[in-house]
Amino acid sequence: MSQNQDKPLDGRVAVVTGASRGIGKAIALELAKRGAQIVVNYNRSAEAAEALVAEVEAGGSKALAVQADVASFDDAHNLIKTAIDQFGGLDILVNNAGITRDTLIMMMKEADWDAVLATNAKGTFNCSKAAVRHMMRKRYGRIINITSIAGIIGNAGQTNYSASKAAQIGFTKALAREVAARNITVNAVAPGFIETDIWADVPEEAREGLLNMIPLGRKGSPEDIAPAVAFLASDEAAYITGQVLAIDGGLT
Ligand SMILES: NC(=O)c1ccc[n+]([C@@H]2O[C@H](COP(=O)([O-])OP(=O)(O)OC[C@H]3O[C@@H](n4cnc5c(N)ncnc54)[C@H](OP(=O)(O)O)[C@@H]3O)[C@@H](O)[C@H]2O)c1
Repeated sequence: MSQNQDKPLDGRVAVVTGASRGIGKAIALELAKRGAQIVVNYNRSAEAAEALVAEVEAGGSKALAVQADVASFDDAHNLIKTAIDQFGGLDILVNNAGITRDTLIMMMKEADWDAVLATNAKGTFNCSKAAVRHMMRKRYGRIINITSIAGIIGNAGQTNYSASKAAQIGFTKALAREVAARNITVNAVAPGFIETDIWADVPEEAREGLLNMIPLGRKGSPEDIAPAVAFLASDEAAYITGQVLAIDGGLT
C-alpha cells in the first residue's frame, strides 16, 4: 500500500452508508480527500448521492452511488458485493446510516421501535456481516460504527434510538474481539449534538437545553466528526480496536 503522506488512504476502497447527507457525506469527502475510493450508499436521496459522487470525482478520487436500504439483509449484501465487484475489494466500512423516531415511551408505537432498531442496529449487522467475509480473506479491514452519546448516557424521548446506539457499541466490542486475529479493527465514534437534518423535528427548547450542557459551548458540525473517522480508518490506527470515541464538545 502506498505511503503517500498527503493521501494515506490511497488505494483503499471505502463504503460509507447513509452518505448522501449530513455526517456520512462529510466522512465520504474526508476519506476521498485522503485518497480512498468511495461507495456512496443512500436510501432515498439519489440526487444528493449523485452530486456527492461528482464532488468526489472532481477532487480526483473514484466514487460510485449505490442505493440500498441497510435494514434489508439482501440490500446490504448487494451493496458490499457491488463495492467489491466495481472497485476490486473493500478495506473500510463506515456504518453511518441512521434514523430517529423520537417520542416518549408512552406514545411510542411498535413501528417506531422496529424501524429505528432495523436501520441503526440491524443495518450495522447486515453490512458488517457482508464486509467481514471479504475482509477475513483479505486479512485487512477497518470497520467504524457511528453510534451516539445517546447510546452511552441515554436520552429521554429516545428509548428506541438509545437502545439501537447502545446495540452498536456492544456489537463493536464483540466483533472487535472476533476479527482481531485477521487484522481487522472495529471501532465506534459517538457524536454529540451535530447540526444535520436529523435534528429537524426536535423542538427549539430541547436544542437550547442541550446546547447549555456542552462545555465547549457550541454544536458540532459533520466536519468535527469526519477526521476522527478517517484516522480510525488509517494504518496509523492499526493498534486501536473495540473503542468508542465520543466527539461531543465535552458533553459526556
Ligand atoms: N446529527 C447528530 O447530532 C448525531 C449525533 C449522534 C449520532 N448521529 C448518528 O450519525 C449518523 C448520521 O446522522 P446524520 O445526523 O448525518 O443524519 P441525517 O442528516 O438525517 O442523514 C442520515 C443519512 O442516513 C441515510 N439513511 C437513513 N436510513 C437509511 C437506510 N435505511 N439505508 C441507507 N441509508 C439510510 C440517509 O439516506 P437518504 O437521504 O438516502 O434517506 C442519510 O444519508 C446516524 O447514525 C446518527 O444516528 C448523529
